[in-house]
Amino acid sequence: MKQSHQISMKPFNSFAVEASADTYVEINHWYELDELDAAQSADAPLLCLGEGSNVLFVDDYPGTVLRIRNQGISVVDEDDEQLVLRVAAGESWHQLVTWSVNHDLWGLENLALIPGSVGAAPIQNIGAYGVELAHCLQSVQVFDRQQSCWLRMSLDEADLSYRDSLFKRDQDQRYLISEVCFCLSKRPEPVLTYPGLIDYLQRHSDREAGREYSSFEIAEAVSAIRRSKLPDPSQLPNAGSFFKNPQVRAAQYHGLKEQYPNIPGFAVDSHDDPYPSEEDSLIKLSAGWLIEQAGWKGHRLGDAGVAPGHALVMVNHGSASGRDIWSLAQAIQSDVHSRFGVSLQPEPRIIGA
Ligand code: FAD
Ligand code: EPU
Repeated sequence: MKQSHQISMKPFNSFAVEASADTYVEINHWYELDELDAAQSADAPLLCLGEGSNVLFVDDYPGTVLRIRNQGISVVDEDDEQLVLRVAAGESWHQLVTWSVNHDLWGLENLALIPGSVGAAPIQNIGAYGVELAHCLQSVQVFDRQQSCWLRMSLDEADLSYRDSLFKRDQDQRYLISEVCFCLSKRPEPVLTYPGLIDYLQRHSDREAGREYSSFEIAEAVSAIRRSKLPDPSQLPNAGSFFKNPQVRAAQYHGLKEQYPNIPGFAVDSHDDPYPSEEDSLIKLSAGWLIEQAGWKGHRLGDAGVAPGHALVMVNHGSASGRDIWSLAQAIQSDVHSRFGVSLQPEPRIIGA
């Protein structure tokens, strides 16, 4: 276990904002979590960080920042149809996707090029291009700091939904994820529902008529689309979408549509109420559209800004502090609310606000 004090978090967050942690601990093996547990009380402030691509430090962290950097991908079960993989939390997400498509497996290809670690993927049920992690997550191994014991949680217990899970709601960092198990298919299971993905594949591949796309080709297409839309954090520091896409009742959506005929909206399956009345059904709005219509796209206040190419991405043009970015985000939230009556919720974890 590597431990140090008063460490800058700037290299460990994709917004590249300055913040220091009282104590910084790095572990390379899951069993070191037991040692950490012995050294820490369960209610001591602890923040588990993966690659820092979905956090915003608004202040210094007055506790321990822990990075779990264990490695390893192993096959734990297999038949003719599918394969169960156990993957260490510290593995890179995109490298896992690359490993899976190179082995001709199906399930992770639409989630290519999402930054971050495997251990963080269940936290907000990462999703992109028509697929969410819940689609192929089997179970999660966690250390429960409150009970001081190891648990294996099933998909149901982890309670995943759009950009949410039991873990994301756990602000006290009760659970530390050490391993994630995925169930991947050996048979082709392409998901090409996202507008733009099938178009891209048709325009860019010279396949013979009738041949299926491979999971590798789909991952490549998703990566190319992502590179064309989102700023690269190593060039323009950011955390991807800063707000979740808001969900509103159909009645509110119809009211907005009368005023703004071009407003995009997508029907959402409601798990709480599978048979809602028409007016009660949920519609997902596009936060990027609302922010762009309100005039914030490309806006800059000092070094804190909104990406010129994508209104949902807040960026650090150089030396913005977390507080600068958070103040601008709050101004956007309040403007969007006053114009459209819609509340935007941040997607990254805001630390210290
Ligand atoms: P961190 O930012 O380090 O942590 C995020 C949260 O997870 C924190 O609350 C942290 O405490 C917790 N956490 C991390 N590891 C553990 C662990 N082992 N145990 C317990 N808690 C833990 N997300 C999407 O869903 N879809 C996208 O398409 C997408 N695109 C992105 C594009 C860009 C350019 C960027 C910068 C981000 C994007 N994101 C996207 C957000 C981000 O990549 C994901 O949320 C990712 O899973 C975060 O991984 P991380 O290791 O960086 O987590
Ligand atoms: N739009 C605008 N202006 C903009 C950007 C977007 O009007 O500047 C509107 C357009 O109508 C566009 C629509 O928003 O068609 C959707 O845009 P996009 O396809 O880029 O997707 P998104 O809703 O902005 C979501 C996720 C992304 C994910 C993509 C692809 C959320 C909060 N974001 O973005 O996830 O990669 O879809 O599936 O759900 C992330 O979570 O960090 C993230 C990047």
